Amino acid sequence: MSESLLFSPFTVAGVELANRVVMAPMTRSRASWEGDVGPFAAQYYAQRASAGLIVTEAIGISPQAHGYPYTPGLWSAGQSRGWERVTRAVHERGGRIAAQLWHVGRVFSRDNNPLDLDAVAPSAVAAAGKIFTRAGLQDLPPPRELTTGEVRATVEDFAATAARALDAGFDAVELHGANGYLIEQFLSDDANRRSDTYGGSERKRLTFLAEILDAAADRCGGLDRIGVRISPYGDFNGIRHSDPDRVMRDVVALLAERGIGFLHVIEPEVSGDGSRKTGSAGSAPDVLAIIRESYSGVLIAAGGYDRDRAEAALQGKRADLIAFGRPFISNPDLVARMREGAPLSEWDRRTFYTRGPAGYVDYPDLEGAVDQTHAPPPSQVSSKEATA
Ligand SMILES: Cc1cc2nc3c(=O)[nH]c(=O)nc-3n(C[C@H](O)[C@H](O)[C@H](O)COP(=O)(O)O)c2cc1C
Repeated sequence: MSESLLFSPFTVAGVELANRVVMAPMTRSRASWEGDVGPFAAQYYAQRASAGLIVTEAIGISPQAHGYPYTPGLWSAGQSRGWERVTRAVHERGGRIAAQLWHVGRVFSRDNNPLDLDAVAPSAVAAAGKIFTRAGLQDLPPPRELTTGEVRATVEDFAATAARALDAGFDAVELHGANGYLIEQFLSDDANRRSDTYGGSERKRLTFLAEILDAAADRCGGLDRIGVRISPYGDFNGIRHSDPDRVMRDVVALLAERGIGFLHVIEPEVSGDGSRKTGSAGSAPDVLAIIRESYSGVLIAAGGYDRDRAEAALQGKRADLIAFGRPFISNPDLVARMREGAPLSEWDRRTFYTRGPAGYVDYPDLEGAVDQTHAPPPSQVSSKEATA
């Protein structure tokens, strides 16, 4: 094969990356109940800073956006200070880091929300599926329909949080438009049955995303540092589109027209956190090839990649950067291992979403060492977090 592209530098969002390996966003449920960054987060991300770009776990833009237990937010000054520690630790290592911003919409449980809020969504249509809560697995609840004023306020929450993220030292922001959360709920003719400016036709269902981009551009001085993640043909969290091809094409046309910093695509073969396949897998078309026809900006591909598939995708110009999710959980030095062709260690699904350091910051590198540089002083770790 010709010279490796995977380990060659690349510039995205005006930022130079050391290689084309992206750490995919992964919720790890190690934040405080109120949504403050957890004590081990700086160590966790610094351990993985040899990725060309890290995309963080999904971060809530407001208390209403927060639907899973122990997930972080970025709506308060205290949360912002927590993230500053993380961005500093990654930058000290020469790494780059983007914040993934989300609002869960109807994929929510009141039992997971620090303010006991109720689920909201474009329309009062519950998603089929279940959610983990402190009280066990529960059916996703029937949501309340957001008022037009509340939708506008949510647009502002996204934009204000994007600006706050850049202020906290993030190199870029990724809007979570994938996996059936609020942005995708607005795009879906099943979840969005509105008749105001945010629903009623294909064009109107794009309005929420379009307004977020415009508001973020205003607040952040353009969209160069703003990316969007999408999951065409995905069905995670009960999301359905009667014409997924049309939705994908319309969204990509909007993003191309606005000129975002990067587009991050989860391919249909891998659904959500990889615990099952997307229902449409096998029947879905080649989404990267379709997107390349109308989008000439930076493209990140994710979903089930290993080194050889990643290199082939880059050589074939199918994508500019490749995101790896689960392999980064158990291989903090994934880039070095892939470069050397060294074996990868297996991830342990049982500790994906548990609290504390186990399965989070204790995976060793190839030499058997666990990097402790940014480990928290014991005084900052509650006994529950230390032993969980
Ligand atoms: C534990 C876990 C948590 C995840 N959390 C998120 C998330 O917060 N945001 C997101 O967009 N994708 C999330 N994903 C999906 C990954 O970003 C990625 O798309 C998926 O794991 C497929 O890539 P892989 O085959 O390289 O693991 C998660 C995946 C895992 C395994």
